[in-house]
Amino acid sequence: MNTQTITFHPKAPHKTTSQDVVLSALPPLSLYVHVPWCVKKCPYCDFNSHEFKEQGADWEYEYIQALLKDLENTLPLVWGRRLVSVFIGGGTPSILSPESIDTLLAGIRARIPYVADMEVTMEANPGTLDNAKLKGFRDAGVNRLSIGVQSFDDDLLAQIGRIHNGAQAREALATAYQLFDKVNLDIMFALPNQTMAQLQADVQTALSFKPTHLSYYHLTLEPNTYFHRYPPKLPDDELALDMQAYIETALESAGMTHYEVSAFAKTGHESVHNTNYWQFGDYIGIGAGAHGKISRHDGIVRHAKFKHPQTYVAQMSQGNAVESEQHLSRADLPFEFMLNALRLRDGVKVSHFAAATGLTIADLEPALSTAQTRGLMVNEHGVLRVTDLGWRFMSDVQALFLQE
Ligand SMILES: C[S@@+](CC[C@H](N)C(=O)[O-])C[C@H]1O[C@@H](n2cnc3c(N)ncnc32)[C@H](O)[C@@H]1O
Ligand code: SF4
Repeated sequence: MNTQTITFHPKAPHKTTSQDVVLSALPPLSLYVHVPWCVKKCPYCDFNSHEFKEQGADWEYEYIQALLKDLENTLPLVWGRRLVSVFIGGGTPSILSPESIDTLLAGIRARIPYVADMEVTMEANPGTLDNAKLKGFRDAGVNRLSIGVQSFDDDLLAQIGRIHNGAQAREALATAYQLFDKVNLDIMFALPNQTMAQLQADVQTALSFKPTHLSYYHLTLEPNTYFHRYPPKLPDDELALDMQAYIETALESAGMTHYEVSAFAKTGHESVHNTNYWQFGDYIGIGAGAHGKISRHDGIVRHAKFKHPQTYVAQMSQGNAVESEQHLSRADLPFEFMLNALRLRDGVKVSHFAAATGLTIADLEPALSTAQTRGLMVNEHGVLRVTDLGWRFMSDVQALFLQE
């Protein structure tokens, strides 16, 4: 990949080259806010999340102020644009108090314009929720909750080191559905020693809540996790495939559409925020380790913030926490775009690819023709999408668009 990494300096002008991207229109803009703490680190998790340790009375306040300052620093890159969504993710944002979330969301609304029906999602762990807290989050402006249920089975939850049991997961969901119009639940499958009967029970319990959005993830053993060092006994590939087939059939029979590799939704309940990522939209990333992608008429820039929470807060206290900034070149874009867009079941229009990247369909060659010849992708009436075969071999299709 032809990429250029430079040290961030807000006033350093980027010199335009023939490799630069020129855009005629700017895509929708989202905001991602990272909260890097959890009550306890789960043994399978490689997210930027740290076990919470007492760190002085004002830690929440200090972090929220750092986030707002971080947002202010980014504003010159997005003048005049409106946010379509905010996603407060982690980590476990629900360890913060409703007052902190209120300060954060009020601070965001005061600093940047937003659309009237802006989607505001917060990730939550059932072990950190009660009725009063959920009401507080809703009153602060959160209008979509994403709950990390993972399973309803007490034994499986204990095996994957979760801080909650099945009853707490059911209670959190029941309250969330009373208070919020939009709720997502995350479920994982192919868990240690999980049987088909246990998976079926999880799916049926999830469906008993009549979910409008559900994300299903195959447990993966990520490097640098406890499970990678001490692998548990997992279902074999054949059983995992049968589990996946059961999940897809059951959710589709319940009227949900499998609109992205891991996401199912009732029509109209698709995630605005994630769909913007998958369609190569723009997003500001604030908080420890947060990534952003911002288009300007003269190019597309990615930025990353310092990863460790303490480093991030210390850097912000000195004015800015951008660790790296990268200008994408034309050669980067086919892969950058396809990495996300291929995940969408309905694919993307060729015209959207052109608007979001400044490229033409010819710039996708020879990868597109190879994918079509191998039956992995189709171009139907100006819409590019993966076939059923391509869906099963997603990483192979994505790799075709990687240029040396
Ligand atoms: C960033 S986590 C945030 C959710 C929240 N912290 C929680 O765990 O309750 C988002 C989701 O990714 C999924 N996930 C995390 N690690 C995974 C892994 N190693 N394999 C598969 N799914 C994983 C889980 O379903 C989790 O709910
Ligand atoms: S609660 Fe979520 S983010 Fe935190 S360690 Fe567990 S899976 Fe990772």
